[in-house]
Amino acid sequence: MSVGERVLITGGAGFVGSHLADALARQGCRVVLFDNLEPQVHGGEGGRPEYLDRDHELVIGDVRDPDTLGPRVREAEVVVYLAAMVGVGQSMYQVRRYTEVNTLGAANLLQILVDDPGQVRKLLVASSMSIYGEGAYTCPEHGPVAPRLRPPEQLAARAWEPRCSGCGVELTPLPTDEDKPLFPTSIYAINKRDHEEMFLAFAHAYRIPAVALRFFNIYGSRQALSNPYTGVAAIFSGRMLAGKPPLVFEDGRQLRDFVHVSDVVRACELAIERPEADYQALNVGSGRPMSVLEVADALAGELGWAGGVEITEKFRAGDIRHCFADITRIQRLLGYAPKMAFADGVGELVSWVARQQGVPDTVAEATRQLTARGLAR
Ligand code: UD1
Repeated sequence: MSVGERVLITGGAGFVGSHLADALARQGCRVVLFDNLEPQVHGGEGGRPEYLDRDHELVIGDVRDPDTLGPRVREAEVVVYLAAMVGVGQSMYQVRRYTEVNTLGAANLLQILVDDPGQVRKLLVASSMSIYGEGAYTCPEHGPVAPRLRPPEQLAARAWEPRCSGCGVELTPLPTDEDKPLFPTSIYAINKRDHEEMFLAFAHAYRIPAVALRFFNIYGSRQALSNPYTGVAAIFSGRMLAGKPPLVFEDGRQLRDFVHVSDVVRACELAIERPEADYQALNVGSGRPMSVLEVADALAGELGWAGGVEITEKFRAGDIRHCFADITRIQRLLGYAPKMAFADGVGELVSWVARQQGVPDTVAEATRQLTARGLAR
């Protein structure tokens, strides 16, 4: 990045976008944030979020609208495409809305660039671990395998661990690398795979370098607490602060990769600055597996919560058992090294959550919506 470089961030008023904007501005970039201030994320009032630095220019608009997005793209040298509807469960009953906003939004940006590429030298697009479906595993008999979703009968019997399709033995999870076959299990995940493939295909054809970053479970300050589809760490801390035990799905031993937003921002900066990852998709995680129960424990320790958790033994349609990142490729290509230990990152998340006031508890209503459609049992 050079001082004065113009960076357009779609979804820039959100959790990741606003942190990235702060970091880029500190390096002397001129950032423009393009965002529709989606009420589910930003609350009903629709005003400029308080956490947004006053010096960042904010353009309120819809990524599907060429008349508002076009002029901003033509002023930019770098475009970071983070705008998306992000509720995995919600995408399963708002199928058209998700696909319109996510897929057509990205198509609109690429069409603008076809018509007039302006001075754009780099594209960055947010992809997601959700495109993998289940993570990578190994079978003692058959070696490395990439299982599909657990069959409904198995889940109904509350047998949570994925099994080998060849011999039925319980599988052992492995770090997931970028070559694992993609089995997206939700409309949201399919939209994200589309994002990645659309940007990379476009980049190859027009020789505008693009990088797709497959974000794992990001946590940290500015996570939208009013959004019931925000990540589990924010949901759990909100519940504990409200005096309610976290609701744990399955048995809580499912593994994820929790990566702090500051490490995600660093990965974005490296992908913007350096050419080594151009035209590729890379995992962005911490590289450390962590169970949902361990997350709850760490939060309870931070908040002094002694009320325990409620293990529901329920599950959501499309939920995977384990997925955590193999970060070898991004380490090798970009020199990325995650810095924030979960024990420290959790403090930063909790101090943010504790400062939020009057946040409506929307999780119960969201769960009702899923249950009514048979998407949570
Ligand atoms: C999903 C998406 C991911 C997206 C993220 C946040 C998949 C495979 N991945 O991840 O791309 O970034 O949502 O939108 O779909 N859990 C509870 N109690 C709760 C909430 C969640 O136990 O109240 C459990 C879930 O069952 C899951 C884990 O916590 O096992 C993590 O859930 P969540 O934070 O929603 O993220 P993912 O489903 O991993």
